[in-house]
Amino acid sequence: MKTKFRTGVAVLGALALFATGCGSSDSDGGDGGSASGDTIKVGFAQTGSESGWRSANTESMKEAFSEENGFELVFNAADNDPAAQISAVRSFISQGVDAIVIAPIVEDGWDDVLQEAADADIPVILEDRTVTSSEDLYESWVGLDFKKEGVMAGEWAATEFGSEPTKMVVLEGTTGSAPANDRAEGFDEAIAGSSIEKIDSQTGEFTRDGGKTVMEGFLQKYGVDGIDLVYAHNDDMALGAIEAIEAAGGVPGEDIKIVSIDAVHDGMQALVDGKINFIVECNPLLGDLAAGLVKSVLDGETVEKQVYVEDQSFTQEQAAEVIDSRAY
Ligand code: AHR
Repeated sequence: MKTKFRTGVAVLGALALFATGCGSSDSDGGDGGSASGDTIKVGFAQTGSESGWRSANTESMKEAFSEENGFELVFNAADNDPAAQISAVRSFISQGVDAIVIAPIVEDGWDDVLQEAADADIPVILEDRTVTSSEDLYESWVGLDFKKEGVMAGEWAATEFGSEPTKMVVLEGTTGSAPANDRAEGFDEAIAGSSIEKIDSQTGEFTRDGGKTVMEGFLQKYGVDGIDLVYAHNDDMALGAIEAIEAAGGVPGEDIKIVSIDAVHDGMQALVDGKINFIVECNPLLGDLAAGLVKSVLDGETVEKQVYVEDQSFTQEQAAEVIDSRAY
């Protein structure tokens, strides 16, 4: 059964969470953590630091898993290397942490290490991204509906271009990651039967540099006049594409329209400036929800297997109204 929560005070209240602390409590670990006393030792395996979204997510997690909130956080960012991330989880297991939180870089390849955590009696909570392993191997997942994000982006594109023949290129996220897989699937479903033709698609690894490099290649191949629409799986790649389009003498948002996902500050500014045309949000502020789930699981409470946070979307006008009040 899926549970949908809206972020904000109501959600935090509903989960009986604690006040948000300030600052982080990184630790290199120690010998054998336990939930004895007031401190809960948690290992968090983050993907890396590929995007503005990721920075906001890391900050949210560090604030929620702070000393003030009763946690000792062992933080690892794996630089988007799946093998390094699995090693980090093994290290958390050998340190005897009380719980493990993972933002899985890719969906596949988790069975063995999740089984090792289960054998060591260490509960695992997934945040942000999902895995293809059996649900029995983790307690809960909290995050966003990536497929729905793709659908929302695709519906905008199908409406925007109507029956006009449209050549689209796609800047994909990390290959094998849940958001890259699901955002592609959702978008493709939404534009099925429309006048939009996908002429090329390549990974830009969710980074600004990656988006720029891939877009430069597309522009060399098709020219500014040969591309009508860019679908970027995140804002950072859209921002890289903007640089490439401008360097090629095009006007982003006019000569080539851009739709992207995340709604981080720099993306929203580009939307306000008319360089991006539409953004679907992916809310990175998952820390309090993840910390609440860890506490509930360790307290022996039953938790939902999937906890979805709702996303919204922004036109240029809507972005201009909210940009100054957003937290990230
Ligand atoms: O998993 C969420 C995605 O990861 C964000 O959309 C992207 O910016 C990040 O790198």
